[in-house]
Amino acid sequence: MSFSRRHLLGLEALEAEEIEEILKTAVPCKEIAQREVKKLPTLRGWTVVTLFYEPSTRTRNSFELAAKWLGADTVNVAVANSSVQKGENFTDTAKTIEALGADFIILRHAVAGSPWLLAQTVNCRVINAGDGAHEHPTQALLDLFTLQERLGVIKGLKVVIVGDIMHSRVAKSNIYGLLKLGAGVTVTGPPSLIPPGIEALGVEVEYNLEKAIKNADVVNILRIQLERQHKGLFPSLREYARLYGLDREKLNKAPREVVIMHPGPANLGVEITEEVACDPRAVITTQVTNGVAVRMALLYLMSGGGKSGELLS
Ligand code: CP
Repeated sequence: MSFSRRHLLGLEALEAEEIEEILKTAVPCKEIAQREVKKLPTLRGWTVVTLFYEPSTRTRNSFELAAKWLGADTVNVAVANSSVQKGENFTDTAKTIEALGADFIILRHAVAGSPWLLAQTVNCRVINAGDGAHEHPTQALLDLFTLQERLGVIKGLKVVIVGDIMHSRVAKSNIYGLLKLGAGVTVTGPPSLIPPGIEALGVEVEYNLEKAIKNADVVNILRIQLERQHKGLFPSLREYARLYGLDREKLNKAPREVVIMHPGPANLGVEITEEVACDPRAVITTQVTNGVAVRMALLYLMSGGGKSGELLS
């Protein structure tokens, strides 16, 4: 087993072999997730806590399902109803959750670096479920898994990431993961939403969407992060949609077999039209489904293979 980390804080620090091990392990996990009876005893006796300081539908619920299907006990800390509202600070909340018996804490937080602080504070395993504009490693892992499943190989793919690169943790984790596995990455979007010097990461920058997608194998559309933006980074949502929203007309400039991705939740009619989101080349629903398998793989590997070490039983 080449992936034996105690914490997953981001993809930047991972080796390509570690990412490949997670993707490989997600294959039998997907088979389990498609069974009529999904529950395994692999993580029986383990407790997985989701601690989300920001809203989530996909990530929180897929971690919960992944843990449950592997036989773990799960607890969701609803921050809005927790002692955080009485002034309890982040590290006290973390230590309290650990004292309750958590083996894993899955953290989403608006502040970049929070998972790192959590990993310094508690002895249990920590997984970053999105920290500010920093990283969202499990989203990138499920995106990579979806591409590998759909196209067979990631090495050599031409992937275009569209939109709010500046505020996107999904973009950063995807860039790290795709480059490590040998794909080429181009970012496109309004100049005000592309971080200056991003080429240093190894990506290309093309401000014109239609030029950027002309030879793309994959177009990954990002959500406009209205909650993380300061005002004035583009004139209006209508203007954004006109220049960078993926609609039928712009999509016709891409190769016919292009794969369309979106991490969700989508602002339909802004960064992507409903028609394009429902196009047979869009894998948005498959990304969600694969999120459970990838998170099962991660929990399994980070637990050291559970008590039995057997995944398929
Ligand atoms: N893609 C993603 O992180 O979605 P949620 O915010 O619903 O978890």
